[in-house]
Amino acid sequence: MSASPLPSSLALSLLLVTGCLLPGPGAAQNEPRIVTSEEVIIRDSPAPPFTLQCNLTSSSHSLQYSYWTKNGVELTATRKNASTMEYRVNKPRSEDSGEYHCVFQFFSAPKANATIEVKAVPEITGHKRSENKNEGQEALMYCKSVGYPYPDWVWRKKENGMFVDLLNTSGRFFIVNKENYTELNIVNLQITEDPGEYECNATNAIGSDSFVTVLRVRSHLAPLWPFLGILAEIIILVVIIVIYEKRKRPDEVPDDDEPAGPMKTNSTNNHKDKNLRQRNTN
Ligand SMILES: *[C@@H]1O[C@H](CO)[C@@H](O)[C@H](O)[C@H]1NC(C)=O
Ligand SMILES: *[C@@H]1O[C@H](CO)[C@@H](O)[C@H](O)[C@H]1NC(C)=O
Ligand SMILES: *[C@@H]1O[C@H](CO)[C@@H](O)[C@H](O)[C@H]1NC(C)=O
Ligand SMILES: *[C@@H]1O[C@H](CO)[C@@H](O)[C@H](O)[C@H]1NC(C)=O
Ligand SMILES: *[C@@H]1O[C@H](CO)[C@@H](O)[C@H](O)[C@H]1NC(C)=O
Ligand SMILES: *[C@@H]1O[C@H](CO)[C@@H](O)[C@H](O)[C@H]1NC(C)=O
Repeated sequence: MSASPLPSSLALSLLLVTGCLLPGPGAAQNEPRIVTSEEVIIRDSPAPPFTLQCNLTSSSHSLQYSYWTKNGVELTATRKNASTMEYRVNKPRSEDSGEYHCVFQFFSAPKANATIEVKAVPEITGHKRSENKNEGQEALMYCKSVGYPYPDWVWRKKENGMFVDLLNTSGRFFIVNKENYTELNIVNLQITEDPGEYECNATNAIGSDSFVTVLRVRSHLAPLWPFLGILAEIIILVVIIVIYEKRKRPDEVPDDDEPAGPMKTNSTNNHKDKNLRQRNTN
């Protein structure tokens, strides 16, 4: 590979020329040949624009159409009847990374395709900031990433100011790793050992990213506190009502009796007055 100062396009055309000159096996001559641009690496976002290229350089079959796919899914509005294909991304971000294919569909021959890899540093896009649980319950923490190739996942816990790999001595830790997702499940939470900071770390060939979730574990009685608070309020209220009723009753008894006597005399007095007045007018 010490001869690689040659421009890659020149190297490619040399390869092609030699490929055409050499009398290959009969079948290979009929097979479509696709020339692609180099793989792309997205290092920071936003990264400079990139353009993927595929050229169908030899085919004995008539082309029907061609299109691009990303991670196996057809990219909309890329279908054309053209043997020279381009796909441009103006503001590349980590999520634009993946496995791209250019696909050529012929009238009377199987499809042909070529792969171009677009690689990027993993970027953690989904996570919980904190998880609050009671002792004995289970905690679930997760991280989701974008970035291709898919990362290797590691979970660590902060001990004495440093993140160290999880020690599963109690057998209560369960980890599920998928291509762009990881999950840490801790069962039968312990109030003494489990609270703290947990870090998921995604690492691929291009770089790595990590995120920290804080786990808080409360005592069994914690969920009872609001209930106990309400209970205490009810008790205090009942006590206040009882005291109030007890103080009210002895006051009310004389209140009822006092006005009874004078009121009656008053009313009879009023009648007398009325009678007197009436007589006076007569
Ligand atoms: C494909 O063809 C176009 C037009 O002929 C050319 O500009 C481009 O460099 C080619 N790409 C590759 C990867 O050969
Ligand atoms: C695509 O172009 C080729 C060559 O120009 C032509 O033979 C073919 O019929 C076209 N296909 C469609 C679907 O138009
Ligand atoms: C590309 O070609 C391979 C081999 O023929 C096939 O398995 C694969 O599904 C094709 N990919 C796409 C995106 O068409
Ligand atoms: C922790 O130990 C349990 C029981 O031995 C096991 O099932 C589980 O897979 C282990 N978890 C991890 C992350 O190694
Ligand atoms: C990656 O994550 C997305 C959701 O964000 C999901 O739709 C997709 O299927 C995942 N890809 C793989 C290959 O796991
Ligand atoms: C992730 O872990 C690797 C080692 O396993 C380390 O080199 C890298 O710095 C970590 N990344 C982050 C973002 O902490």
